[in-house]
Amino acid sequence: MGRQKIAAGNWKMNTSHSDGYFLASALTKAKRPSDVQTIMAVPFTHLGAVQALTFDKKNIAVAAQNFHHEEKGAYTGEISIGMLSSMHIPYAIIGHSERREYQKESNSLLATKLDLALAHNIKPIFCCGEKLSVRKSKKHVSFVKKQLREGLFHLTKSDVKRVVIAYEPVWAIGTGETASPEQAQEMHAAIRKMLAEKYDQEVADSISILYGGSVKPANAKSLFGQADVDGGLVGGASLDANGFIEIIHSF
Ligand code: PGA
Repeated sequence: MGRQKIAAGNWKMNTSHSDGYFLASALTKAKRPSDVQTIMAVPFTHLGAVQALTFDKKNIAVAAQNFHHEEKGAYTGEISIGMLSSMHIPYAIIGHSERREYQKESNSLLATKLDLALAHNIKPIFCCGEKLSVRKSKKHVSFVKKQLREGLFHLTKSDVKRVVIAYEPVWAIGTGETASPEQAQEMHAAIRKMLAEKYDQEVADSISILYGGSVKPANAKSLFGQADVDGGLVGGASLDANGFIEIIHSF
């Protein structure tokens, strides 16, 4: 099966409930290409409303931005994977660099979360990516390889095929500085090669790898035009309905 084209918006901690609802309904109603999967990763408080808007629609779906690594228990304020699956939430982001950084989420914790999501039939969007200092020292490929080896590569062949990978260089997130299409392609091709070496070519050719980091309407086409870039994980630019619709049409 070919790789799915995906335009995923990551709203992070933005939008009031009503603003989020209007944004999600605008995207749901918009004319979207039938071969692109649109995803909105919304705050927990918005999941129910956006799920109600999208659950019976084609090619558009809601995602959680996170969930806790334990299945249940005395974790005040946390949300479990079972709570998400009981709402039939189809996707969840795992290991966004902001969580790796601020919540100190480690590769081994993320491996646990991947297992939980797959066990609950929620499709993970697994994030990886290096900081500026790592890129400057030209160790970015081996750094990402370690993130995948420790976070992802314990999965079986059939499970890993259920994962979407998002490569997000930390230096390009929210900075306005986008990786060049060539820099994105270099890493995406390297990730696909790692998948082929660890699993096989068929696995590597079936996994969607998204680019994230200052994707905008103006640069989406050149990024998505790269051979190994299957779409984007978009932060800031996903909060503007018209701009994000343009991004969805950039394949
Ligand atoms: P950005 O964020 O598009 O605002 O750079 C991307 C992300 O963090 O997923």
